[in-house]
Amino acid sequence: MRTNSQSILIIGGAGYIGSHMVLNMLRAGYRPVVLDNLSKGHRDAVLNAELIVGEAGDAALLKQLFSKHQFAAVMHFASFIDVGESVKFPAKYYQNNVSTAITLINVMVQCGVKNFIFSSSAAVYGEPQYKTMTESHPLAPVSPYGRTKWMVEEIIKDFARSDGLNFAILRYFNAAGADPEARLCECHEPESHLIPLVLQTAAGQHPNVTIHGNQYPTVDGTCIRDYIHVVDLCNAHLLALNALVKNKKNMIYNLGTGHGYSVMQVVHAAQRVTGKSINKIIGPPRLGDVAVLVADASLVKQELHWLPKYPGLETMIQHAWKAMHLS
Ligand SMILES: NC(=O)c1ccc[n+]([C@@H]2O[C@H](COP(=O)([O-])OP(=O)(O)OC[C@H]3O[C@@H](n4cnc5c(N)ncnc54)[C@H](O)[C@@H]3O)[C@@H](O)[C@H]2O)c1
Repeated sequence: MRTNSQSILIIGGAGYIGSHMVLNMLRAGYRPVVLDNLSKGHRDAVLNAELIVGEAGDAALLKQLFSKHQFAAVMHFASFIDVGESVKFPAKYYQNNVSTAITLINVMVQCGVKNFIFSSSAAVYGEPQYKTMTESHPLAPVSPYGRTKWMVEEIIKDFARSDGLNFAILRYFNAAGADPEARLCECHEPESHLIPLVLQTAAGQHPNVTIHGNQYPTVDGTCIRDYIHVVDLCNAHLLALNALVKNKKNMIYNLGTGHGYSVMQVVHAAQRVTGKSINKIIGPPRLGDVAVLVADASLVKQELHWLPKYPGLETMIQHAWKAMHLS
């Protein structure tokens, strides 16, 4: 195991992906410090790291943290994430996802903290204009959530020009799975993500799972998404962090496996993994959803030598199922 005593600020580290990132950083020998307001995250998901409960947009708190610790980088996972909710309550999303990021980045550069890793999303692309999306695909988000991610990307680039901020913008497709040792799980409240909802249904917590639309122009009419194991996502962050600290070269990468699965295929895979039958009902399409989102992730593979360790959908579902029962 490599050792590295650098401190990294993980904002949103009590959430699903951030808490996995903390474990990953500890394994790699870093010292993660978590800042999270626990609006969506869980105190007990922060394993073996300091947790500061507070707002990512609290300038005074950030200044205090930056003077206490010498952070080599900030990873910013904290945002609201529900596409449908963002359509209904855009102000909530622009406030938390955009205003907070402006304050955070501004304080970072004032305090001389220059390395920033941002959780962006495939939602910045909008409706695909070709099959697997490269990073150069036009950015035309169709939901307020996607627009918050796009806006923060633009803000980051402006701070790079004005203040020499170094950045890695990572555009995740659909994070899935859980720590293979089942110490953590995906536990959003309320849950809007397909795999946990399907598994909760398999476990008898819901009578059925709602499929949001079955008239999309896809193989079976249901939406197609590219699922990426949360551990692989975290590994990509570590590679990006190393490259950023070493080369100070800004980067934008898609993170996905390049394979799309329809909602129906996910339900069938979950039935195979759990051995349970899963009742489905067809509901209306969700506002802000596009038919197909699949990544071309060849750039991150080529430049950072990232290789997903768990690319299989069934493995992701197995890990999520195990974590649901053990974590
Ligand atoms: N989960 C996915 O599939 C996915 C896909 C694409 C992008 N992303 C992005 O990845 C990031 C993490 O997603 P997640 O699934 O782990 O979400 P999550 O809701 O589980 O975690 C977000 C965490 O941020 C915290 N938080 C939110 N606003 C905050 C604020 N103002 N101050 C302090 N803490 C705050 C929450 O309490 C929570 O712990 C998000 O930015 C999301 O947009 C996620």
